Amino acid sequence: MGNTQRFLAGVWVACAVACAAPPEVRFLSFAEVQDALTAFNRTEDAAAWDAWVRTQDRDVRARTDRGVEDSISNLILRGTSFTALPRVESAESATTSAGELVGAARARVRAAAAALAHPGTNERLLFACDFLSLRGVQPKETEAFLAANLVRFSQEQRGYQEKLSLAHKGSDPHEERFIWSTLFDQRGLSVDTSLLPNYALEDTLRAMLRKGALAPDSVRSIAVIGPGLDFADKRDGYDFYPLQTIQPFAVMEAVARLGLGKLDGLRLVTLDLNPAVNAHLQRAAKQARAGESYVLQLPLNGAGDWTPQAVAYWEHFGELIGSPAPSLAAPKGLSVRAVAIRPKYVASIEPLNLDVVAQVADGSGFDLVVATNILVYYDRFQQALAMAAIARMMNPGGAFLSNTVLPTQRPAALEYLGRRNVSYSASGSYGDDVVAYRRR
Ligand SMILES: C[S@@+](CC[C@H](N)C(=O)[O-])C[C@H]1O[C@@H](n2cnc3c(N)ncnc32)[C@H](O)[C@@H]1O
Repeated sequence: MGNTQRFLAGVWVACAVACAAPPEVRFLSFAEVQDALTAFNRTEDAAAWDAWVRTQDRDVRARTDRGVEDSISNLILRGTSFTALPRVESAESATTSAGELVGAARARVRAAAAALAHPGTNERLLFACDFLSLRGVQPKETEAFLAANLVRFSQEQRGYQEKLSLAHKGSDPHEERFIWSTLFDQRGLSVDTSLLPNYALEDTLRAMLRKGALAPDSVRSIAVIGPGLDFADKRDGYDFYPLQTIQPFAVMEAVARLGLGKLDGLRLVTLDLNPAVNAHLQRAAKQARAGESYVLQLPLNGAGDWTPQAVAYWEHFGELIGSPAPSLAAPKGLSVRAVAIRPKYVASIEPLNLDVVAQVADGSGFDLVVATNILVYYDRFQQALAMAAIARMMNPGGAFLSNTVLPTQRPAALEYLGRRNVSYSASGSYGDDVVAYRRR
């Protein structure tokens, strides 16, 4: 990009920023949560509520550290940027039933500790080093800390599997759905993200448009709640590329592809409580204002049994908002596409520090709100509070989509439209249930 284009890009962003004042973030008021308090038999009065919601916000934000510890464990088990040792594919198999690390996991812990002593320019290792030093972990204690953390993580994962299989064996499908949709309500808040939930969102938006539940050219303002960062290796996430966020670009493009809105002038706000996520987006927007595009690496695991529709989504990702870029060398068995997202779209993202189970942003007026892989980290009451906050931030007629089946005790302002199952794998064993609501 030349200097003039760079200058124009800067002017465009300066105008966008100057023209739209950032929404004001505040705590949900007692009046706004009346429905939820009644539905969940809560006894707080106005004063007790004000104290409760502030304490809850502090407690929720405190869960981000545990989320980082989980991401570090995932990186240890499956990362390829710091070791050539074979990946340990499932966290549950990292420990014996007696709670000991298995040999392969112990070797990976040792390799990670050695790499953390000399992180070089590895962004994830540098992030982990900062985190450990803030936690007061001395270099000589690193290996023991990582090992204990991995044991805790592995056992927690096993607990989730057991809970799910018990629910599956039971005869009550409602109970099973309930277990699924609150499964992580005590877990650390992780940031991990990947491509496929965005395919589920686009597929659901397409179906809504087809059925007339959404009108063409009706979306001017979008909220992505919990955009995430592709930090650690999980299913369909890897560490051979720099940290990246995908969802803001995916939703922007879905809206344009489906004719739900026009790219130019589209407003996209991200709402997240994790400082690393918000700082990443702020940095990306700043660099974009200086004319830099945002390069996304998009891996496709050939052994992953993706449906032809999911593969097509991967193949076309970014074609409206970016251009092909060189992909980085990937581990064996992976195909990778890279896309450079145009600076003007990156610069148009407005990151907002907000805890959606306790706070709202006044003056938001969103026409479309998405929240995937976030509300599963909360209990039913917290989910109802998040729905109250979301309803408050939407324009009448707007749509809200999530891949967590949410409580029926919802604000009267949200009309339930239905649930759609979207499969990512041909066998149907990997996919998402997307629920959709309309703001009355
Ligand atoms: C597991 S990631 C999911 C990322 C992405 N939405 C996806 O589906 O791939 C969860 C994201 O939600 C954010 N998050 C968790 N709790 C939140 C809350 N109460 N308010 C706002 N953001 C939250 C996390 O910081 C993280 O960015």
